[in-house]
Amino acid sequence: MNLTDLVNPHILSQPVYEPGRPIEDVARELGLNPGTIIKLASNENSLGTSPLALNAMRQALEGAALYPDGGCIQLRARLATRHDLASDQIVVGNGSNELLELLGHVFLRPGDEVLMGTPAFIVYKLVTLLFGATPVEVPLCDHVHDLSAMAAAVTDRTKMIFLPSPNNPTGTTNEASEMINWVRSLPENIVVIIDEAYAEYLDKEPDWSDLLAAGRPLVILRTFSKIFGLAALRVGYGRMNSELAGLLQRSRQPFNVNAVAQAGALAALDDHDWIQRCRQTNREGLEQLELGLADLGLPFVPSVGNFVLVKVGDGKVLFSALQRVGVIVRPVGVYGLPEWVRITVGSAAQNERLLSALAEFRGAM
Ligand SMILES: Cc1ncc(COP(=O)(O)O)c(C=O)c1O
Repeated sequence: MNLTDLVNPHILSQPVYEPGRPIEDVARELGLNPGTIIKLASNENSLGTSPLALNAMRQALEGAALYPDGGCIQLRARLATRHDLASDQIVVGNGSNELLELLGHVFLRPGDEVLMGTPAFIVYKLVTLLFGATPVEVPLCDHVHDLSAMAAAVTDRTKMIFLPSPNNPTGTTNEASEMINWVRSLPENIVVIIDEAYAEYLDKEPDWSDLLAAGRPLVILRTFSKIFGLAALRVGYGRMNSELAGLLQRSRQPFNVNAVAQAGALAALDDHDWIQRCRQTNREGLEQLELGLADLGLPFVPSVGNFVLVKVGDGKVLFSALQRVGVIVRPVGVYGLPEWVRITVGSAAQNERLLSALAEFRGAM
């Protein structure tokens, strides 16, 4: 029997997502002490997790024998209040990645075109391919999404459009008013997904309320993996109209978000001082990194997220060299940027260590 004869053919060519390398894995491979390794590869929160969330999650573990609340009732109610919406306009997922996949389940089929910028978060393309649809990639202009070019690329087959704001891996964003007018200008039969994984790092978050109220197929995604420091727990959510939310709810697994994650997310939302400290620490860290990179003469894209894209010559070579001294960054060849690496903003000490290592390898770049 040949297994490949049984498989849905598009799965054979489906690319595999390459995550940032885990600390333990690098430690094992290079014989390093995991405690000395720093990971600046996956845009996680350098301050860790909110103490309130940690406490709530420890308590939630006591109830591990019971299934979680499959409807995320409390969390959705809390998020609805936060965004001035009704609970049935919120869908919670196992990370915002799950919501991206659910959108594929609900909307995509072979023949559909899905518009996205390039480089932009790679999962948009992976989900598109997974459902046999066709990615249509529109190059960024000066590292920012080219909204007019994207609008011009719309065809009768365009089913979905992704716009990350801020974008990964560039750390850039479009003006809020420009994005809002752009969404308004798009045909109403296109599902528009605004991915705001890093929005909490912005000075001012865009206000989508009018557009959400207008009822068009629009989804605003957020995650608890970044500023809320819960990447390991996998929680993300989307805001949308209730009809669309109902369709996503039908397509998810019955208990897609575990109880510990729900408890952590609920508590993290209330830890305002801690979130404020994360925002401030990130601002300072970003400034430290950008000043250090400028001193080293390394070109970078000014960022509004918790990471920065840096031009280093050969991204893979630098990635390997940094790894050997216990610093994990992200090479971005998969984004068509072989000369660049993406570096997450760390603590002041981590940033300093990264900059010293870069200074050491500067000559070889
Ligand atoms: C732009 C963007 N969207 C979504 C995600 C996925 O986040 P989650 O951990 O919620 O699945 C990421 C993760 O890095 C991201 O950069």
